Amino acid sequence: MTQNAKVIGTGGYLPEEIRTNEHISETVDTSDSWIFERTGIRNRRIAAEHETTSSMAEIAARQAIEMAGIEADEIDLIIVATGTPENVYPGTGCVLQHRLGIKKGVAFDIQAACSGSIFGLDMANNYIKSGAAKTVLVVGTEINSRITDWTDRGTCILFGDGAGAVLLQASDESGVLSTHIHSDGQYEDLLNCPNPQASTSDDTSGYISMKGNEVFKVAVNTLGRIVDETLAANNMQKSDIDWLVPHQANIRIIAATAKKLKMSMDHVVVTVEEQGNTSSASVLLAFNEAVRDGRIQRGQTVLLEAFGAGFTWGAALIRY
Ligand code: COA
Repeated sequence: MTQNAKVIGTGGYLPEEIRTNEHISETVDTSDSWIFERTGIRNRRIAAEHETTSSMAEIAARQAIEMAGIEADEIDLIIVATGTPENVYPGTGCVLQHRLGIKKGVAFDIQAACSGSIFGLDMANNYIKSGAAKTVLVVGTEINSRITDWTDRGTCILFGDGAGAVLLQASDESGVLSTHIHSDGQYEDLLNCPNPQASTSDDTSGYISMKGNEVFKVAVNTLGRIVDETLAANNMQKSDIDWLVPHQANIRIIAATAKKLKMSMDHVVVTVEEQGNTSSASVLLAFNEAVRDGRIQRGQTVLLEAFGAGFTWGAALIRY
């Protein structure tokens, strides 16, 4: 019988250093009020020099493993979503596998920018449903601060560092109801970060480059469509969703999606004010926070969604 991918654990890690809007205003022409009004962000976390995407992933993963009450070596698939891997290879997934002391199964990375954890959930769900994997760890982990041009006020106000994790296991109980992922590569010019060592681009900075207001418009439209698609696929009404756990890029994008769902902001998990945009980590960090503080309860229906460079976008509907 087909098994469901049940959420058995979640975890999250944020580096200690807090960079405030005031800190950023000291080096670029901006202000706390401008940043907060246009984005909803006040603070973001910055990884310490010794930290890597795999060291942060390990902390988030160990929390999820502890919550699930399983042994690490029960995990037979590790999927790490990151746009800021510490190596070109080996993949962060393999480094994490070693850090967790796991010698069996398989680990690999996926690159879908800010949609990475939703793409990871999609793969985890399909591996479990097909019987190819039983216990799957999905981690989104990013050190965006190292690919941010701290002199570009259009981008440096937005991003932060962190890692989020979720453990899924084959179960007869409810779990992931459906996942929906998409991409459209025509938008590379609007949001990109070329790898200076491998790219033929004239831009050899290694920094994020973005046409923010154009990205904003596409994000709002696209996320509206993915919400409709997910509800239709599950034959559900807007009112059937208990919690929206959105990608944390900008409070105005989040509010637009909540409005589309006719959902009060009380049922939307928002971390953007304190964390900024942690790319692939953001949805899993928000999910972890709301699970751990008791907002999200067993049996509730949770819609996770994200949008990112590519463009990539997707949603996962979970009966927690
Ligand atoms: N502080 C002060 N002024 C700023 C500024 C800053 N940090 N950044 C831009 N501005 C200025 C611009 O120069 C522009 O000035 P002008 O009118 O004199 O030319 C004005 O503010 C408006 O710029 P615009 O880019 O249209 O602002 P915006 O309201 O779209 O806000 C973003 C900019 C980046 C906050 C917003 O577009 C955004 O969040 N986009 C989506 C980004 C995103 O989600 N990316 C990741 C996807 S995963």
